[in-house]
Amino acid sequence: MNSKHVFPSTVLVEPTNKCNLACDFCEANCTVNGHLKLKDLSSQNLAIALKKIEKTITNIVFQGDCEPLVNKRLDKLVVEAKRFTHSIAIVTNGTLLNQKKSQELIKSGVNWFAFSIDDHRRDVFNAVRVRADLDVVEENLRELILIRNNGRADLQVAVHKIIFPNDTLESLKEFVKKYYLGFGASQITFSPLVEMGDIKVKDWLKLRNRLESDLVDEGILVNLKEFCAYPYKTLNKYCGTNLLYINHKGYLSPCGLHQRDGRFFGNLLQESYEEITEKDHFKEYHNYWLSREYSKPIPSHCKDCFLLKGHYHRYTLNEGHQNGLEFCDHLDLQNNQADGADAIQYDLISKAL
Ligand SMILES: C[S@@+](CC[C@H](N)C(=O)[O-])C[C@H]1O[C@@H](n2cnc3c(N)ncnc32)[C@H](O)[C@@H]1O
Ligand code: SF4
Ligand code: SF4
Repeated sequence: MNSKHVFPSTVLVEPTNKCNLACDFCEANCTVNGHLKLKDLSSQNLAIALKKIEKTITNIVFQGDCEPLVNKRLDKLVVEAKRFTHSIAIVTNGTLLNQKKSQELIKSGVNWFAFSIDDHRRDVFNAVRVRADLDVVEENLRELILIRNNGRADLQVAVHKIIFPNDTLESLKEFVKKYYLGFGASQITFSPLVEMGDIKVKDWLKLRNRLESDLVDEGILVNLKEFCAYPYKTLNKYCGTNLLYINHKGYLSPCGLHQRDGRFFGNLLQESYEEITEKDHFKEYHNYWLSREYSKPIPSHCKDCFLLKGHYHRYTLNEGHQNGLEFCDHLDLQNNQADGADAIQYDLISKAL
């Protein structure tokens, strides 16, 4: 085993390649109208895959590119996952999570849920989250929060929003007030809209940070969590999404993006983890992120990644100004590729000058 590159990690698991919605912004590669052959991950296959990486598992997040709840045997997957960790999360569109299903999943071992809601206004939500109805999602959210309030204080219920180009400080404020104060969600998380591999709202981070300051001024102490705020328990910080990802067919990759471009490390149903960790591209990827020598060429697995087109990962890595600046070698800053973190940094630099 190549032990240098094996360490405790968050593991993302994709339970199915099917989704029941057709959100107009979603670039996930899943079957909605049957364009792909439907494939659910079975609990037997999950057991095989997890057993091979068991020494590295800190916690498991069921998410994937599609909708976890579409897999009717999700509770069986959760029971299997529980043999490897007590920290189990689900990221969902919230449409299929009724009271019975929530109870079942909690009983099986889920203790962290994230609802992707994206907008608090019914007309806007229903227009972008095609086939969903905000009233149904909110009812399901309400029921889950009720379960938490009635004796399951350990349950985390997060609400996630994509920041769209037409969002404003005010619309984001209304969102936070509705779900954090009104519904009592445990966390609110934001991420920017990504279209064809590009972050559409370059100053989203600045907007999010301003929003948090404004809310603090109003006496609302909300810690607006990071992009991809899964309950990470990983020791080594990589790009901001440092984890292992297993897709519905058992393919392993460093993050969910490779579900779409097919750049996987290997397949845990067909290969041993030892074999996978000895592959050149596996080593190249880990050596880059472990070395912190960011001026070196970006590993082939991460080429063209939208995260590296802005500077959000520098913000999350939080490991020293000069070190972070080495990323500039890969980026064309003159062409306004910077996201909010850079915008703030440039503001500060220009003020200092
Ligand atoms: C692909 S979905 C899969 C899980 C589930 N179906 C859901 O909607 O939560 C995972 C997350 O990606 C987000 N997402 C989908 N398309 C996106 C896009 N173009 N830009 C940014 N986030 C996106 C969703 O809002 C969701 O929070
Ligand atoms: S529910 Fe999730 S996976 Fe399905 S279309 Fe919407 S964002 Fe994509
Ligand atoms: S492809 Fe992007 S998100 Fe995935 S590991 Fe590389 S930098 Fe991170």
